[in-house]
Amino acid sequence: MGKTLITGGTVVTAADTYKADVLVDGEKVAAIGTDLQAGGAKKIDAKGKYVIPGGIDVHTHMELPFGGTFASDDFETGTIAAAFGGTTTIVDFAVQGFGEPLAKARDAWLAKARGKAAVDYGLHMIVRDVSDKILREMDTMVRDGISSFKLFMAYPGVFMVDDAAIFKALVRTGENGGLICMHAENGGVIDVLVKRALAEKKTAPKWHALTRPPEAEGEATGRAFKLAEMAGGVPLYVVHLSAAQALEQVRLFRDRGLPAYAETCPQYLFLSYDNYEEPGFDGAKYVMSPPLRPKWHQDELWKGLARNDLQVVSTDHCPFCMKEGFRGLPKQKELGKDDFSKIPNGAPGVETRLVLLFDGGVLQERITLNRWIELTATTPAKIMGLFPRKGTIAAGSDADIVVWDPKAAQTLSAKTHHMRVDYNPYEGRKVKGKATVVLSRGEVIVEGGEFRGKKGRGKFLKRGSPLFQT
Ligand code: URP
Ligand code: ZN
Ligand code: ZN
Repeated sequence: MGKTLITGGTVVTAADTYKADVLVDGEKVAAIGTDLQAGGAKKIDAKGKYVIPGGIDVHTHMELPFGGTFASDDFETGTIAAAFGGTTTIVDFAVQGFGEPLAKARDAWLAKARGKAAVDYGLHMIVRDVSDKILREMDTMVRDGISSFKLFMAYPGVFMVDDAAIFKALVRTGENGGLICMHAENGGVIDVLVKRALAEKKTAPKWHALTRPPEAEGEATGRAFKLAEMAGGVPLYVVHLSAAQALEQVRLFRDRGLPAYAETCPQYLFLSYDNYEEPGFDGAKYVMSPPLRPKWHQDELWKGLARNDLQVVSTDHCPFCMKEGFRGLPKQKELGKDDFSKIPNGAPGVETRLVLLFDGGVLQERITLNRWIELTATTPAKIMGLFPRKGTIAAGSDADIVVWDPKAAQTLSAKTHHMRVDYNPYEGRKVKGKATVVLSRGEVIVEGGEFRGKKGRGKFLKRGSPLFQT
């Protein structure tokens, strides 16, 4: 691979905004400066554009088995969609089978990604049974670059683990340099509420939200941080935080100086409980866990992002189609037509994260341009052990670079998106900002509205221990 010179743009990192050329040599950033020259280099004109590090989405579920079906994007369609949206790295979740070694899940997920992924990818491990053997295997995983483990406090009988298991896993990551990522909702309480609603014939999609109250998220979040404190003050990262009650807990523990971290997702910033009231079965589009909250929670989450109580915005990309037969896919959301508890949980978003945060965050002056990069690339890279290889533009870093046109207007729609799913939760929303050229390790993979990369070019990333700075 040769050289590429990106000229005349404004480089934006988490720390700085300045006019400069960026020289890429092979897979790496070689130099940043003014009036750089490079004979024979491919030239990309970035005048009037931002030159930003490729986005890092540390929460995706390509082909996740869930509720009798599989998330509709695989590593090929999902990572190509990610690239169109300016995301050049994902971290996906492998799922341990009950009683099975973690290595088996790792190998299964590597096989799903191999030959398909168009951008680089890492893996977290969802741990479903925390035996002594598995605790020992967690050490091996960390050494082999799978340095984070998701545990669930919800979905009894499927994913949920008890406090003793959580405590043991936290102690272990305190010793081996890994990180626990927590799905924090009180699964026991939710189960009672779900059964009660169904007994009362309350079957519509909105009951998914009404049986998963924000207090159940707040309680589990507080309990998780308390367990992390009892485990010796070990770091804990709460995933897909949606509710003010949960944010309050993050703030409480951070104010006490504990290593408490959390991500939120665009759906919790831009969508709300009102979406469940859409006509017919349309509320199913938004069935995800935790669910969308009443609108007032959005302001609290924006405050959390601005004040760094929330450090990351990921997507929890986990699409399921509304209609059977879309591109040959089987029944997915429709599985819960008569029972909200059977609607597969999850929604699409890997392609729309950067533009939603730019349009609704930066342009609305809720966050700064630099904070946009920090939330979507730099801090995810740091917390997930990928920095400084990924997450910034610096000499020696991977040349994962996006030329971003701040003035380009687009309308989000299932008709034009690249995700393999038949609806877009933001259908019809007009936004400004677009990834016009996308480089992944020095290779132009999106340009002129076309995918120019190759499926399978994405590499598995062995991640290190988290780097916590704030
Ligand atoms: O509804 C969701 N979030 N589906 C994906 C699985 C998870 O809990 O992240
Ligand atoms: Zn989850
Ligand atoms: Zn998830």
